[in-house]
Amino acid sequence: MVVSAPPTTKTAPGLTREPGSYWITTFGCQMNKADSERMAGILESMGYSPASAELDADLVLYNTCTIRDNAEQKVYSYLGRQARRKHHNPNLTLIVAGCVAQQEGESLLRRVPELDLVMGPQHANRLETLLTQVNSGQQVVATEEHHILEDITTARRDSSICGWVNVIYGCNERCTYCVVPSVRGREQSRYPEAIHLEMEGLAAQGYKEITLLGQNIDAYGRDLPGIAENGRRKNTLTDLLHHVHDVDGIERIRFATSHPRYFTDRLIDACADLPKLCEHFHIPFQSGDNDVLRAMARGYTVDRYRRIIDRIRQRMPDASLSADVIVAFPGETDAQFRRTLDLIDAIGFDQVNTAAYSPRPNTPAANWDNQLEEDVKVARLQEINALVERCARERNARYTGRIEEILAEGINPKDRSQLMGRTRTNRLTFFSSEGPDGVRYGAGDLVKVTIDVVRSFSLSGTPLPKD
Ligand code: SAH
Ligand code: SF4
Ligand code: F3S
Repeated sequence: MVVSAPPTTKTAPGLTREPGSYWITTFGCQMNKADSERMAGILESMGYSPASAELDADLVLYNTCTIRDNAEQKVYSYLGRQARRKHHNPNLTLIVAGCVAQQEGESLLRRVPELDLVMGPQHANRLETLLTQVNSGQQVVATEEHHILEDITTARRDSSICGWVNVIYGCNERCTYCVVPSVRGREQSRYPEAIHLEMEGLAAQGYKEITLLGQNIDAYGRDLPGIAENGRRKNTLTDLLHHVHDVDGIERIRFATSHPRYFTDRLIDACADLPKLCEHFHIPFQSGDNDVLRAMARGYTVDRYRRIIDRIRQRMPDASLSADVIVAFPGETDAQFRRTLDLIDAIGFDQVNTAAYSPRPNTPAANWDNQLEEDVKVARLQEINALVERCARERNARYTGRIEEILAEGINPKDRSQLMGRTRTNRLTFFSSEGPDGVRYGAGDLVKVTIDVVRSFSLSGTPLPKD
């Protein structure tokens, strides 16, 4: 393990930093959110307490994302503000964690010398050790490849109903546009027993819904010692779903993110057959054109993607579908872009996350000479977003008048007489916390609700009397 102390020591040695208040801002994906919850847990176990405002905190941690250039730039503007604050308050501890930290490493210290700690995602569970080094007067950079230690931390979770559970860290794919493999490292799967145990612990605390997380969750288990049965590997994602399905108290299980290259019929069957598995699938397709998919090195064709969707709909006709897509990938022609629009229209997604291609450091596509102009990116993004919104509205219309089971997650902050929660298909739904029979509902309840208002991205409804 190498923790480098850079040439200059900015913090006066011996400076005492008693645990005070902390603030964490999280950018990026669910993986980062889950890491932030674990880091908050570590800080609280050390005696830190949550600060009431970012600018009052004694310790500020930015858990960063670098998936696109604008995500990275956001971090620098946040950091500038804190760096100025540090000049008046040398006791402030300033930390950059996550994917920008991994990408930039020591060069972040040159850019922002006020930083105390730069730590990559694989070091999230080591925050206490790293802070001890900081408190002895060092600036610390922790970005070396690291085996993620099993569950030495207890997360401080934002929700007390829905929890994330990491099942595989890292990504071994080499999509030509994507920075994730270089910042998150090689795949590391957790053992099924450890995942089961964590879920039992969450159930005992009252959690009702678990989302299993991985950048490419379909790769789960391929790095674990292989136990083969009838020539088939036994530690697949499908096996894991069967394994964790029996955790009492957990009512719903989800997983993300799926990769079309590895998505199997067995997995679809498991989702259809296991009652706790929710009928919502997030399967990014990135492009509706085979040549673009090849240039992206995605490893599947549009036909294969469509067969997966057909199979899901055969087994679960009401399943909701979401995806990610990139427009204006280097060399993408107008005709190729239209194929992406056609695919969205043909499939009828419930939700699609769209982004214009952004060149990233250490990725092959960033060096190609067929980059598209900014105005093409903007125009394609606008066009696709209009289509996505129309599809979402059309898909949502099917809920009108239907009875849906909502897992209440908490109070609607905009109307405190209401609860908010989600359908099994992951639609955000608002409803009165009081049923027609005077029954009061609260977070964690599964409530039958008649849907009477349908918007593009949310629903509202009325609870049924309890039967
Ligand atoms: N592991 C997932 C997604 C990871 S990143 C998968 O394989 O699909 C989340 C999304 O960000 C990607 O699905 C992609 O649509 C988008 N993305 C990644 N790199 C990008 C880039 N360089 N420019 C624009 N969007 C990008
Ligand atoms: Fe990135 Fe591809 Fe890995 Fe997803 S599968 S994280 S897009 S390299
Ligand atoms: Fe961003 Fe890192 Fe997630 S780059 S999308 S926070 S894996």
